[in-house]
Formats: sequence, C-alpha cells, structure tokens
Amino acid sequence: MAQDEPAGDFRYDTGEARVPWAAIGEHLANEDLMRMIRFLVRPEAGKDAEYEARAASVEAALAELWEVSGPATKLSLGDTVSKLEAEAREFLGCKYACFLTNATAGFEIALKYANIGPGDEVIVPGITFISTMTYTLQSGAKVVFADVDPNTVNMDPADVARKVTDKTKAIVPVYIGGYPPDMDAIMQIAEARDLVVLADAAHAFGGRYKGKAAGTVAHFGSYSFHEVKNINALGEGGLVVTDLDFGQYFPQCRFLGVDMSKQIKNWLYDVIAVPGKYGPFVAGNHSSTEIQALCLLGQMERLQAVIDVRRANAEYLNERFSEVEGIITPPLDTDEIKSTYHLYLLRVDHELIGQDVQVFKQKMEARGVVQIPHFAPLYKYQLCRDLGYDTDAIAETCPNTEMVFNHQFTHLPLYPLTQEQIEYMADAVIESVEEMKAGK
Ligand SMILES: Cc1ncc(COP(=O)(O)O)c(C=O)c1O
Repeated sequence: MAQDEPAGDFRYDTGEARVPWAAIGEHLANEDLMRMIRFLVRPEAGKDAEYEARAASVEAALAELWEVSGPATKLSLGDTVSKLEAEAREFLGCKYACFLTNATAGFEIALKYANIGPGDEVIVPGITFISTMTYTLQSGAKVVFADVDPNTVNMDPADVARKVTDKTKAIVPVYIGGYPPDMDAIMQIAEARDLVVLADAAHAFGGRYKGKAAGTVAHFGSYSFHEVKNINALGEGGLVVTDLDFGQYFPQCRFLGVDMSKQIKNWLYDVIAVPGKYGPFVAGNHSSTEIQALCLLGQMERLQAVIDVRRANAEYLNERFSEVEGIITPPLDTDEIKSTYHLYLLRVDHELIGQDVQVFKQKMEARGVVQIPHFAPLYKYQLCRDLGYDTDAIAETCPNTEMVFNHQFTHLPLYPLTQEQIEYMADAVIESVEEMKAGK
C-alpha cells in the first residue's frame, strides 16, 4: 500500500476493554517455538548428542525470555507486512506494493484488473513456468504462446506483434532466470492497443532495466519469494507492484474485497467488488503473515550480496566457456541491464556439435551435475491438451521455442556453490561438449 498508516486489522483494535477480543486465538507457547527452531536449525550428521544438549539450553533461555515478555499480538497482515511493503516500494521505486502468499496470486490480481475471461486472449512466452498461464486458463480466456528469443529464452516481441488480435487483453513477459525481456518493445505493442502488461518477475527481484527496477516497467510486476528464489519469505511469498491508481485497491484485492487497514464503522457491509479496467471483479484471499514479512525483510538486507556472488559465478562460467566452440554463453550485465542471475542459461550449438542438449544433459547427470527440468514449452503440457489446445499446431508457430528446448538450452545452478563445485561444473560442461564434438 502507498499510504503509511499501519496495516493492522481494525476488528481487533479495541483498546483497553474489560472483556477484550484478541486477534490471536491461541498464542504460541515455548514448545511451539522450540518445534520451529528444531525444524529450521537441524542437527549436523553425527552431532545428535551435542545438538540435544544445546537445544536444551536454548529451550531454557527461551523460558527465561518469556518471564520478561508477552506473546506477539498479531500474526497476519500487521505492521511488519506494512514495513516490508514500504521498504519494497522504496527499493523498487514504485507507488504500490502488496505482499502476498506467492507471485501467482499477484498474476491473478493483475489479470483480474484486466477483467480477462471467455473470449479474451493473453499472450505468454512459449517457455516459462506453469503459473505464468494458470489464472488465464482458470478465467476461461485463451492463452496465446509467443515464440522466444533463443539468446535469452524470453518472449520475442516481434512474435508478440504477429500474434496480437482484437481479442488480446494482456501480455505477460517473463524475466526468465532474472534476465529482462525486451520490455520497451513489448510496452510499445501494448500501448498501441491499450493492453495490460503484467511482468512475471518471479526471478527478477533486484534486477534493473534501463534505469528502472526490473518488474516495474510493465503496468504490473509480480515477484516470487518461494524457497528456491534468490531470497525467500520463509518458504513462500510474493509481491505485486504497480504505479497505476488501481494500486490503492491492493488491500481489497488481497483480502476478499475488504481493506483491513481502514477503520470502517460498518465494515460488515464494506466488502467491495474491486473496480478493474473494464468492470468490477471479485477478489480472492492471498493474505500473508508477519513472520514471512520479517524473514523477507532480513533477507532483503543480504540480497545485493547474494546477487554479487551469483554474478561472479556467471562471469566465471562465461569466461571458462568463451574459448570453447559449441557452447553459447548467456548475456551478462550492461550499463542498462542488470540480471539477478537466478539461473545460468547454457546453450549448446547443436549443429556445430552434431548432437543436441538432451545428450549433454545425460552426460552432465553422469558427472553428478544435477539437471532440474524447470521450464518447457507450456503448450506441450497435458493440461493444455485436456483443454483442447492443439499442441502440434502451436509448436509450428513457435519455431525458436521448439529449437532451443529440443536442441539447445539448459539451466545451471549458480548458488550456493563452493568454488570447487563451480569449477567442477565448468569442467564437466567443457568435457561433455568436447566428447560430443568427438562423436562420443
Ligand atoms: C517463471 C516463474 N513464474 C512464476 C513462478 C511462481 O512463483 P510463486 O511460486 O511465488 O507463485 C515461478 C516459480 O518458480 C517461476 O519460476
């Protein structure tokens, strides 16, 4: 929210009362906290006895702490969530930011703003994560797949321009691996037709695009703080941002049409249908917790250091691969573009090598470098077939998507890796490619 007032839940802000009604039904007790500590801080292999002894002293210390403390009085949507949102707005340089359960919830809010539904079309890149298109399918609108630029595996604006129709309502470019798509070209296409652009910036918190924070160039951006991302909000979390005036309705979008930060006399009736671009819509419940916000605030302090390590590792890999024919390295930062280096995009020149990336992946696996199948052409998913999408016909309209997926690209991890691991991975890539070139 842009306003600076606390996000507290007014229903329980009753002040002193003879018989109060607390926001929290059952407070957390020492044993709950110890269970969490034991979950988050695990014993090292073979150190069980030492762990138990130290855990007992932590438990005793916690009990002592309780003697001079009281429990937290707010666990969901309180001042910590507000603080996180204020810091995120400052960091990103945007007007409105709303902390949510995940990035997918942010996609839902932005696409509800665009009032998508049956008869509408939403353009997404051929290769991304399933959640980029899920709400579009739920809404009954049609997903249209734009081909990708092989150099980044991001949406190709030229193909977006070819695929825009009178039915198009929104475009969803994705910052795959943290590297920005060609946002200027995409925004130009959108502005000419008054389309809503939602950046799937799940990987891109902390990146930059031409003087602006990654994810803030579009009408909406949504970031993920799921555990696998560069920083996380205790396992799950998302942040949707906008500069549109519509951002004033983010609190209602997050919680069922009610703004829990406003002291409203007759709140039982102050549940609104949120005004979207073309008409009202019904909001869902995407509320996030104070503890998640607290975790993310802490991790945000380390974000730049994390990105710096990731960038150094990507630079190392690019340098190692620069002399090897058959390996195509990803673009690195420029003055205008700063990636978050969530993933390292590695491509093999399958024509030069004479074999494709599937063979490469097997060779890497045999060397103990784990390949996680993250991203694939979404139109190949059974989900799309079940809904009547013609996979083969769509594939024909996405030649680069087919080419890079079938023959060229994989992603490598960048963090947390030891120097030994990153060097081993670089050696494994080079050896695998050399073997392939030798026809092995
Ligand atoms: C490209 C992309 N978009 C969206 C998401 C969804 O993020 P969340 O799990 O926070 O909804 C992910 C998660 O991995 C992703 O990789």
